[in-house]
Amino acid sequence: MATSSLVKLNAASSQWIGQHSFSQRSVSSSSPTRRVSFPLVRASYVDELVNTAKTIASPGRGILAIDESNATCGKRLASIGLDNTEVNRQAYRQLLLTTPGLGECISGVIMFEETLYQSTTDGKKFVECLRDENIVPGIKVDKGLSPLPGSNNESWCQGLDGLASRSAEYYKHGARFAKWRTVVSVPCGPSALAVKEAAWGLARYAAVSQENGLVPIVEPEILLDGDHPIERTLEVAQRVWAEVFYYLAENNIVLEGILLKPSMVTPGAEHKEKASPEIIAKHTLQMLKRRVPPAVPGIMFLSGGQSEVEATLNLNAMNQSPNPWHVSFSYARALQNSVLKAWQGRPENIEAAQKSLLVRAKANSLAQLGRYSAQGENEDAKKGMFVKGYTY
Ligand code: 13P
Repeated sequence: MATSSLVKLNAASSQWIGQHSFSQRSVSSSSPTRRVSFPLVRASYVDELVNTAKTIASPGRGILAIDESNATCGKRLASIGLDNTEVNRQAYRQLLLTTPGLGECISGVIMFEETLYQSTTDGKKFVECLRDENIVPGIKVDKGLSPLPGSNNESWCQGLDGLASRSAEYYKHGARFAKWRTVVSVPCGPSALAVKEAAWGLARYAAVSQENGLVPIVEPEILLDGDHPIERTLEVAQRVWAEVFYYLAENNIVLEGILLKPSMVTPGAEHKEKASPEIIAKHTLQMLKRRVPPAVPGIMFLSGGQSEVEATLNLNAMNQSPNPWHVSFSYARALQNSVLKAWQGRPENIEAAQKSLLVRAKANSLAQLGRYSAQGENEDAKKGMFVKGYTY
């Protein structure tokens, strides 16, 4: 039989976590029952996890996501006529990560493994460039999506094998938070199996990350695909997040040391009517307030194919009154689209491209504080980037 009790992590810490005791019966029926206890999270990391999460969730700041796999980065480069080579990927990431003043609005950057180990052409590690701007380096640790046998054409997220040793290695190279993105499809059901698999995988990943000093970003993306109304997205999101928190608790996750990366609650991309930022904010906050304990420090939304301006307006609408958590952004497409267009792969455009990154970062920083206005935004920033069945 298993029982739970609370254990103080160390003398200096005010953190308490659950500890299970298992009554173990010996094979010989005559010997007495033996109690075995074990701590659930390595004590040395708990304070650090909490501090890392707090730093990322700091006022007026959010996350720049540039963790595209090489294949997806190739699509970004192809959109401006560049080949998908390591040199071009490095040049693009260098442009982004050496933007002067980036740390004013960006508190964390999620990188792909290749980028974590790369340096600028002058030999400075990208991780160092980030630290100089007071930005926390992060790493995508999942290994992508694969078809889920036995489901309704749904997928599951791979990457648990070897995750502990990879995470320890990423920590040694400067990463302090991690990201794992799995997806749930509304038009495919979603099936109970797909929801359970997504939630369990996220919880196991979160446990391994915390054990290795990385703050896990928990990201069950509810895809925009479909023609369903906003109420249906709300229903699915509530179900998914209920299950995620159930398994996070089962895996003894320290909630003060995680961040969430939800999709906003919107109608399906092919639904006949668009929803206003106020309606999206109302449904999204309703869902989060019903499901997310205030112990979680930050909600860092993904943009999911919305236009840059839409993603910023929706975030702004969510910050019109106080929330129990820091409500901010962790955008990839909604921060990078204008940058790519300004850059076009030309060295003489680097400065202009960095300026457009700062414009988007500043807009989202204002939205985090609830003070953004879309006045003066250019037409390109209003174009959506939704692609059916998008992978990362
Ligand atoms: P988007 O903001 O492009 O949806 O990115 C999602 C993501 O998971 C990036 O890390």
